[in-house]
Amino acid sequence: LNLLFSKDNNILINKLKKLNQFSSKQSSSLNGVIEIPGDKSISQRVLILGSIAIGTTRIKGISYSDDVNNLIKNLKLLGVKVIKKKTSTIISGVGIGGLSSTKKNLYMGNSGTATRLMLGLLCNQNFEAKFIGDKSLSNRNMHELIKPLRKMGAKINSKNNKLPIIIKGFNETMPIIYNQKIPSAQIKSAILIASLNSPGLTTIIENTPTRNHTEILLKKIGAKIQIKKIKEKNIIKINGQKELNAKDIVIAGDPSAAAIVGSAALITPQSEIKIKKVNMNKTRITFFNILKKMNANIKIINEKKISNEQVADITFKSSNLKGIHLGKKTVANMIDEIPIFSILATFAEGNSSFIGGNELKNKESNRIKSLYEGLTACKIKVKKKMDGLQITGNGKDNIFVNAKIKTYYDHRIAMAFLVMGLASKKKIIVDNINCIKTSFPNFLTLMKDIGANFSKKN
Ligand code: S3P
Repeated sequence: LNLLFSKDNNILINKLKKLNQFSSKQSSSLNGVIEIPGDKSISQRVLILGSIAIGTTRIKGISYSDDVNNLIKNLKLLGVKVIKKKTSTIISGVGIGGLSSTKKNLYMGNSGTATRLMLGLLCNQNFEAKFIGDKSLSNRNMHELIKPLRKMGAKINSKNNKLPIIIKGFNETMPIIYNQKIPSAQIKSAILIASLNSPGLTTIIENTPTRNHTEILLKKIGAKIQIKKIKEKNIIKINGQKELNAKDIVIAGDPSAAAIVGSAALITPQSEIKIKKVNMNKTRITFFNILKKMNANIKIINEKKISNEQVADITFKSSNLKGIHLGKKTVANMIDEIPIFSILATFAEGNSSFIGGNELKNKESNRIKSLYEGLTACKIKVKKKMDGLQITGNGKDNIFVNAKIKTYYDHRIAMAFLVMGLASKKKIIVDNINCIKTSFPNFLTLMKDIGANFSKKN
């Protein structure tokens, strides 16, 4: 009887698994003028910094993705008033050190960014807090951040440097000089946030500069922060202080989301799409520069500044792409775009590769592994390289089999492979689309609206 029951159970589990599958098929063209959700990195930073500023922060263009929604819930648990409206979000800041304790666990969902930034925020408050997350986040190593936070004096308990993590609180942290060897905007930002509530001058030597949204926002709300560029490095100095002053912020479209939608137009015949108001911060546009080198038909127009960030419209037209090789530094600056780059590489003429992407192993999934397995399932010629991959393209659709892709609950892997199916004669099925809500809740409807042949039926 037990055996029978477990067999039924397996059938049920398989049925449930199928419910989350989604397939993508060849599409005749993609066309339209669209806007995409606000930048996720900036949305998370504005919420956290707005919570500890004095006064009201009104945000326009926030991304209501799962990562952001979870963060809002956590800030509310910590005593911050956040009102979600359709076109704006309003935060009433409580001041640095003004957060209140909660007995509830802080559920960080899938978000590495929110986890790291919040560890920085809570490591010197007057209470204990426990961080937990979903399966993918609970597998990610936080050691590179725990190390400097402990050096500042933070008391952090965790097994294997992974979630669940308990921040003990109740103690002051002190400034440090941090020579950052591994490029990570999350770690840099966490230390900057921790330094606000640490008396004296914290210095970060950023050997490979990464996205600088935290620095831009901190300057805007009155933090005493200075950034000096010395050759390739950034030397960032920040003073602990009493008050930040809330400012209204407009958030432009997420360039990493634009990269995915735009790439779909590049590989689908007879396509032209315009994505309006995309964030074009120079630390985020490496992928678009690489596209130009790959012979992509893209144009950047209407450039302007909004809330101290560069913004523009981008047009993407069907293109004959050529392969390209990416070095370590380039990879560090387009870390979130490596999945979609790998898909474009399969449609490009000649070989492409990337190396030095060790950080890719500690993302929402081990992206080198997920990409290798997914491309291999599509029978693409792909070889493992030093922390990277070499991919052979043939200038057009080169997928000869229907393929089922394991996403490992990684939103960027799911979206990248769905885009691949749009320009392929064979069908691509991804095993779980729920993860896409992590960053891009309206991805499927937006893509269908511009002509994508996506369907629930496999
Ligand atoms: C992010 C930084 C990057 C990026 C992530 C978002 C951020 O991670 O991959 O999606 O908002 O600071 P690392 O800090 O690990 O490079």
